[in-house]
Amino acid sequence: MAYQEWRDPTVARAWDARGDEANPLRPYQLDALASVLARILQPGEWVIDLGYGSGKVEAFLFPLLPEVRVLGVDRSEAMMELARERLAPDADRFVSVTRDLLDLAGWHPPQARYGCVLAVQSLHHLPHEQMPGVYKWAAGVLRPGGVFALLDRVQVDAAVWEPMQALWSHMDALHDSAWAAHEGASYEEHQQRVQDRGDRPATVEQHLQWLRAAGLVPAPLYVVGNRALIVAVKKDESDSASKNG
Ligand SMILES: C[S@@+](CC[C@H](N)C(=O)[O-])C[C@H]1O[C@@H](n2cnc3c(N)ncnc32)[C@H](O)[C@@H]1O
Repeated sequence: MAYQEWRDPTVARAWDARGDEANPLRPYQLDALASVLARILQPGEWVIDLGYGSGKVEAFLFPLLPEVRVLGVDRSEAMMELARERLAPDADRFVSVTRDLLDLAGWHPPQARYGCVLAVQSLHHLPHEQMPGVYKWAAGVLRPGGVFALLDRVQVDAAVWEPMQALWSHMDALHDSAWAAHEGASYEEHQQRVQDRGDRPATVEQHLQWLRAAGLVPAPLYVVGNRALIVAVKKDESDSASKNG
C-alpha cells in the first residue's frame, strides 16, 4: 500500500476493508488488552483512544466490556465517518474529538481523570521526537493506578530478520494468513514498505524508555514479532506511601 494519507476517503475505506488483517494476532492482542481493561477499569470509567480510526477497536471492546465508555481522538474525517456508522448502536458510549495527536499538550479532555489511555496501530505514524510529549500528556490525564496501553507495530533490527521471518511464516501456517509476505521478502524491502507507508515504528526499548521518562511503569505484556502490546501503569504514590508507612 502506498503512503497512507488517512484523510483521503479512498485510503480510509481501503484500510477499513482489509488493513487490519495483515497481522493475524491482532484479535488475540486486542482480547488481551480487553482483559487488562476489565481488571483495571472502575465501573463506568472513561477510556481515551488515540487514533481511533474507523472504530474497529471499540467495536471489538464494547461487547466484552459492557460498562466502558470511550473518548476517541483522531484527525481523519474520512476514518471518523466510518466509525460513526460502525458505532451507531453504541453512540451513547462513544464521544469523538477531532484533534491532531501532535497537538495534545495543553489539551484538557472533559473528564478530570481517565482509567486508561490506549493507542492501537496509530502512534507509529508520529515522528519519534513527538513521542515523549504524547506519553507525558497521557500520564497527565491518567488517574493513579490507571494504565496506558500501546498495541502497535514496532521496529525490528536487520540482525533478527531471519528469526522474524520464521515466526511470521509459522504464524501464517497456523492462521492461514499472509503476514510474512506483507512484511516483505527481504529486510531492505521491509524497510522500504515501512517508509513508503509513512510509518515510523520505534523499538520496544524506545517505547519503554519514553514511558519511564513520562513517569509510568511500563511492561511489554504480549509481543509477537513486530507487534507489541505494552502497558504502563501510573503508580498510585499514596498507595506505596501507606504500604511503606
Ligand atoms: C491504522 S489506523 C488505526 C485505527 C484504529 N486505532 C484501529 O486500530 O482500528 C491509524 C489511525 O491513526 C490516525 N492518526 C495518525 N496520525 C494521526 C495524528 N497525527 N493525529 C490524529 N490521528 C492520527 C489516522 O487518522 C488513523 O485513523
